[in-house]
Amino acid sequence: MNKKNIASLTTPSFLVNLSTLENNINKYQKLADENSVELFPMLKTHKSSEITKMQIDKGAKGVLVGTLDEAEKVIKKSGVKKVMLAYPVIGDTNLDRVINLSKECDLFVAFDNEIPAIELSKKLNNTKINYQIIINSGLNRFGVSPEDSVLLYNTLKKYPNLVFKGISTHTGQVYGFSKDYINKITEKEISTMTLAKKLLIENGADVEFVATGTTPTFESAIKSSEITISRPGNYVFFDAIQVALGAATEDDCALSVLATVVSHPSEDLFILDCGSKCLGLDQGAHGNSLTKGFGIIKNHPELTIIGLSEEVAKVKKEGSTTLKIGDKIEIIPNHSCSAANMTNYLIGHRSGVIEKIIEVDIRGNSRKICID
Ligand SMILES: Cc1ncc(COP(=O)(O)O)c(C=O)c1O
Repeated sequence: MNKKNIASLTTPSFLVNLSTLENNINKYQKLADENSVELFPMLKTHKSSEITKMQIDKGAKGVLVGTLDEAEKVIKKSGVKKVMLAYPVIGDTNLDRVINLSKECDLFVAFDNEIPAIELSKKLNNTKINYQIIINSGLNRFGVSPEDSVLLYNTLKKYPNLVFKGISTHTGQVYGFSKDYINKITEKEISTMTLAKKLLIENGADVEFVATGTTPTFESAIKSSEITISRPGNYVFFDAIQVALGAATEDDCALSVLATVVSHPSEDLFILDCGSKCLGLDQGAHGNSLTKGFGIIKNHPELTIIGLSEEVAKVKKEGSTTLKIGDKIEIIPNHSCSAANMTNYLIGHRSGVIEKIIEVDIRGNSRKICID
């Protein structure tokens, strides 16, 4: 049977260029291997057990999850053995979920204050759980300073069922700057973690791992002998934000949204059948707005997406264009992690020939809530 081409798809559709996806996974894995760093990809970008399996098959040692939903599903569906939680968890039900997870995999919870730790410890009784301390290396979101990591470590020593394993950080502030700052932020990432590790060791801690990771700082950070685990997420797809930042090229971007021109209301304006419910409204992260419009329209530099309603996009042309009503175009979203979360299915193709459907099967609302 002849395989279909993406041009035959209804729109909007979410496309994944499989060759680009594989290249991205291979490239980051190879760099991690060459630098003897363990790769724990963050799953929030694709939320897909199939893409997780591709990452594990290539050599990823574990995964980083942003939600308990991701963790619960990925363990069952992809056979992942080591799971790190990116953020602290609190609350009765969620702590029970954490304990259940710890029975199914090698789990590493994350703390930056003692309250979730004490709550978890009370529930654990005689069983033990591994934890990491989150260090703030400039994002000013989660995390303690290197000095305060020692205080937290000492406090948590009182709870023998909590087993300290290492430290982690995420220099997401890199997205708030331009390319010229990537190296500066990497230096901050490494120096902060080096100091935290030193202070903890001086205080008697056994620091088994030092984990960092953002896609833009990945390549330079893993060269440091201090970093033992890297946890990038966005690199599987990249996106228009990474292109604007200079951390990727358009050719590196694996995810796109296929849309059709449905109206041409005036000489310089076109309307597409995909809106914020496909592309998301992100124009940058952590204060950055380097992107032009709401995504890159492939092969049409003369076009800018100037506005999004929920289901439609407004496109302005500058100069001449061949675009007409009925044409299908591909858009690289500004933020691929947000865009991929808008669909249940990604359509995997190679040079436009459809090869398979990839389910976005480990995203939110994986648990039916009991209301009785
Ligand atoms: C704690 C943590 N680690 C790693 C990542 C992955 O970062 P990136 O998508 O830039 O690779 C994120 C992203 O949100 C994160 O919050």
